[in-house]
Amino acid sequence: MRKKIVAGNWKMNTTVPEGVELAKAVVAGAANVPADVKLIIATPFTHLCPVAEVVKGSVVALSAENCADKEKGAYTGEVSAAMLASTGCQYTILGHSERRQYYGETDAKLVEKVKLALANGLDVILCVGENLEEREAGKHFEVCGNQIKNVLYNFTAEEMAHIVIAYEPVWAIGTGKTATAEQAEEIHAFIRITIADKFGVQVAEDTSILYGGSCKPSNAKELFAQKDIDGGLIGGAALKADDFIAIALSY
Ligand code: PGA
Repeated sequence: MRKKIVAGNWKMNTTVPEGVELAKAVVAGAANVPADVKLIIATPFTHLCPVAEVVKGSVVALSAENCADKEKGAYTGEVSAAMLASTGCQYTILGHSERRQYYGETDAKLVEKVKLALANGLDVILCVGENLEEREAGKHFEVCGNQIKNVLYNFTAEEMAHIVIAYEPVWAIGTGKTATAEQAEEIHAFIRITIADKFGVQVAEDTSILYGGSCKPSNAKELFAQKDIDGGLIGGAALKADDFIAIALSY
């Protein structure tokens, strides 16, 4: 059975003290969220250790936002999957469109990152999604399908149990423009078929596929009601605990 997940992606926001306060507020609000909705907060690297202390013993899981594509060594400024695991976090986001767009993250690099994350016991939230130009050219199925194939087809059905997919149309991220529930559902259904083609129907049915891109309390309910949408990856609205919890309560 796939999990319902509401994950917050804090991106490069909040100082450490602000992040600790935000995490405390999320943990407090989580008490009202039904047990079958998994809550995850993804914080900057600097916040992982103190936030791990805040979420310890609560239902809120902790995620990083990225990890290195190398195991260890002379890679100044990089943070390895082993380092992440040692902070107590359980997940890492990988392949966010902001990483792909601004930091040259390719599918080939993502294969290395996913391998290292899994090898270090982290679950992965892998982001895919088309940009506006690709959407307008009608290439959204092709782009998302290729991102899934190029990265995830390198893994096994067993490894897929540790991978969550987030469909994030780039044109909807931080723009206030949400994909309609129908637009999102058709891509989610397509992603599930793409997973089924390689790993079989059962693995596809068990894979959680989240929607991300201007998801907020006012639109979450309609999005989450779709058959193939298993929750959300929330950016801006995750910076306010009340909004983040309200989204989780939309399920
Ligand atoms: P947004 O970001 O909710 O602010 O659009 C989502 C994301 O990029 O994960």
